[in-house]
Amino acid sequence: MTTLTIKEMENLACRNLEQSYFDYYQGGAEDEITLGRNCSDFDAIKLRPRMLVDVSSVDMAVDLWGEKLPMPILIAPTAFHCLAHPEGELASARAAASVSTIMTLSTLANHSIEEVAAAETQEGKRARLWFQLYVYKDREITRDLLARARQAGVRAIVLTVDSPRLGKRPRDCKNGFHLPAHLSARNLERFFLQNISGNSGKNALADYIASLYDLSLSFAELEWIVAEAGLPVLVKGILRGDDARKALAAGAAGIIVSNHGGRQLDTAISSIEALEEVCRAVPETTVLMDGGIRRGTDILKALALGARAVLVGRPVLWGLAWQGESGVRSVLSTLQEELLLSMQLAGVASLKDVERDLVKSPFFAGGQGERL
Ligand SMILES: Cc1cc2nc3c(=O)[nH]c(=O)nc-3n(C[C@H](O)[C@H](O)[C@H](O)COP(=O)(O)O)c2cc1C
Repeated sequence: MTTLTIKEMENLACRNLEQSYFDYYQGGAEDEITLGRNCSDFDAIKLRPRMLVDVSSVDMAVDLWGEKLPMPILIAPTAFHCLAHPEGELASARAAASVSTIMTLSTLANHSIEEVAAAETQEGKRARLWFQLYVYKDREITRDLLARARQAGVRAIVLTVDSPRLGKRPRDCKNGFHLPAHLSARNLERFFLQNISGNSGKNALADYIASLYDLSLSFAELEWIVAEAGLPVLVKGILRGDDARKALAAGAAGIIVSNHGGRQLDTAISSIEALEEVCRAVPETTVLMDGGIRRGTDILKALALGARAVLVGRPVLWGLAWQGESGVRSVLSTLQEELLLSMQLAGVASLKDVERDLVKSPFFAGGQGERL
């Protein structure tokens, strides 16, 4: 068990990563205002701990669409894990399996859905997988990815809706970000769209997405995807209550509040600020969130503001670059241990006791909220 913080793991990861890959992982859009807010807005929320509560036994278990997890912490979809470690997504999936949580596999993974679904820990455990979907103009690609996800035993589809184009990421433009020739997006191989290794000095990922993703994606296509998926569809990238309602009306099973880790629309609202509005708009729905989770106290605040669970993006990449599978395991166990400690110090023995009054938030003092 490591005593390192997530921040310290990031510093160690930095030493093992080529600069342009570290920048790709760490960076955000434009002036990185939203990237910064995702973390600093957690700091602006204060905890209101309860005292003299029996916290000798704490229950952190959560049920998500029938999946029972020992903790409300999941792996967010992030592209290209092989830039961090040769075993890439296989190592991340094994780490998720060893702590019994869910890994969300990106469409733009370096390993295919089938390879990751087959990845086993030394004890023979496999991760439960969700599959994150980007929608290409060619609907055959979506059909193929959904069918393969079902076939591989994936439990849910995470449809990312905040990326009709790639946000402008100055670090990647400056570095001419591209994949090295030996890596590709293997899920797209059968459509000959696996190569993102252009070396024109421009951001190859931005060019790839601009030419292939469906800019016309709307709530009507969401209905089609829900019908085609045959699995629960969670809509990722929602930042407003009205959009959450529309997504549910189109058949979504759940919502993931996210601004893509501050990598898309800069100066967009932070995830933690958006969370409460979304949860108030769809009170009966399971809402998850990601963006800026670096501490157990961040998780506790997100749960108090209505999230059922959280996902972590960059911290997983830091663990992977630092120490491969065991580094990812350290990230997940550190956050789990910190959440346990925070719950005990805040006087909550079970996730169902984590209520709104556990926090004082500067973001949602009536007004705007009442209009929803
Ligand atoms: C390097 C990197 C790659 C990402 N790739 C994807 C992706 O392929 N699909 C997706 O839906 N989100 C992607 N995201 C966004 C994450 O799923 C998540 O929303 C974000 O990282 C959460 O913020 P955090 O990094 O502060 O935890 C990516 C984020 C990073 C940092």
